[in-house]
Amino acid sequence: MAANNEALQLEILNFLDKNGKIEDSMNFKFEGKNVDQLVFLGALNSLTSKDMVVYKQIENEKWNVTAEGNEIAETGSHEAKVFNAIPAGDEGITIADLTAKVGPAAKIGQGKAFKNKWISKKGDRLVRNVASIQDKTQEDLKIIKETNNHSDANTLKDLKKRKLIDRQKITSYSVEKGEKFSTTIVKQATDITYEMLQNGSWKDVSFKKYNFDAEGIQPKGGYLHPLMKVREEFRQIFFQMGFSEMPTNKFVESSFWNFDALFQPQQHPARDLQDTFFLKDPATTNEFPEDYLERVRNTHEKGGYGSIGYGYNWSREETQKLILRTHTTSVSSHMLYTLAQKMKENGKFEPAKYFSIDRVFRNETVDATHLAEFHQVEGFIADYDLNLGHLIGVLNDFFHRMGVDKIKFKPAYNPYTEPSMEIFSYHAGLDEWVEIGNSGMFRPEMLRPMGLPENVRVIAWGLSLERPTMIKYSIDNIRELLGHKCDIEMIQNNPICRLEKKMGREL
Ligand code: PHE
Repeated sequence: MAANNEALQLEILNFLDKNGKIEDSMNFKFEGKNVDQLVFLGALNSLTSKDMVVYKQIENEKWNVTAEGNEIAETGSHEAKVFNAIPAGDEGITIADLTAKVGPAAKIGQGKAFKNKWISKKGDRLVRNVASIQDKTQEDLKIIKETNNHSDANTLKDLKKRKLIDRQKITSYSVEKGEKFSTTIVKQATDITYEMLQNGSWKDVSFKKYNFDAEGIQPKGGYLHPLMKVREEFRQIFFQMGFSEMPTNKFVESSFWNFDALFQPQQHPARDLQDTFFLKDPATTNEFPEDYLERVRNTHEKGGYGSIGYGYNWSREETQKLILRTHTTSVSSHMLYTLAQKMKENGKFEPAKYFSIDRVFRNETVDATHLAEFHQVEGFIADYDLNLGHLIGVLNDFFHRMGVDKIKFKPAYNPYTEPSMEIFSYHAGLDEWVEIGNSGMFRPEMLRPMGLPENVRVIAWGLSLERPTMIKYSIDNIRELLGHKCDIEMIQNNPICRLEKKMGREL
């Protein structure tokens, strides 16, 4: 390549020596052939760095025939095919026969042939209107194939619209002699060496100039997805509030931990195929803390701890079913059970604050605001004698740190919390209150079977990670944020995330 490039450089110099100028490198021949413009530019840059030549860019347009255009250039346009397939005379042909003869081109071809007044309809048959036709489309395409251009701008426009041709931009160069023009290339030294200093040759050596305009190599690296940036902000908020992170590396969960442990009855609609993804293989698990499972069964069937339960026959089969977790509350239920186990070992309950941020799955119809998978941000505090006032206080603090100051609560229902509250925030842009999260106090029917004492209360809340991310990065369609339509450049280009005050007013 380098040697070849030097030969090309010499050829350029010789040409300039003879002709004074290269008008357009497009027409410049090397070894009898046109030169790739990028290769030509490489040679030019070498020569320019030695001030041997100067050059200017020329922007050219070139028209290329597409695959479909090529086919037409060879075999004729759809409309000509239709015309040729219709026999001369009044007999004509039926549309069915025409389609059989011409194939899929028949439909578009007919339209055009009618428009050109080449054919008309006689009863249910198509007949020729004229004795012969001129297939202009084919002729035009042939011209463009040969010359990469056409004298009529409208023809170009029309063929482009029909996707028969497309335009290519090409840069070429005009070249003239530079200050230090010569037909021999002196090899330039890139470094001053020990030997040059020793023997004094450095005085006569021609040194290669530094190119201060050369762009550095783009550093290669990974890019954080916007969701991961916003997640990091949420993590910091939780850490500032003294929370610890729960392990969430478990997309597959048993129905037991995702639903039953949360006192969600087995007939609950959320447990249907329509709402939840079930695993096929393996479809079930049989690993449970059996004593705890029995207490959960009892609570569902008969109640206890002041509850009358649901009064139905609880099925072990149902609880064994493996699913993709539908919420991160399954992670919280694991953690609360672990805390109860620790209490058994230590003889004392230790208050705790935990959070998690990870992916959950729901069998939803995908649209602009819903995906079958999304991320949840979830936190809980377990301590003695907590009440709803604590929950409201913590939520105010949490959302304030996110930059959301105006929040309101609305009574809601979750099978595992009582009371439950939806969290709304005022959206100045929409001038309305929008739902931003869900919260509540975990029910005794959930906590007591785990072994937690009566006066240990747990306040908890959850929200999606997608919603604040979409607001923060002004993304309207969730499918642009996550999934196969997500643009990698969007991920590379979007800025770092700070959940500052302003966002609250935007939310
Ligand atoms: N699990 C609830 C959801 O998926 C959120 C939530 C978490 C509600 C904790 C109350 C308490 O929407």
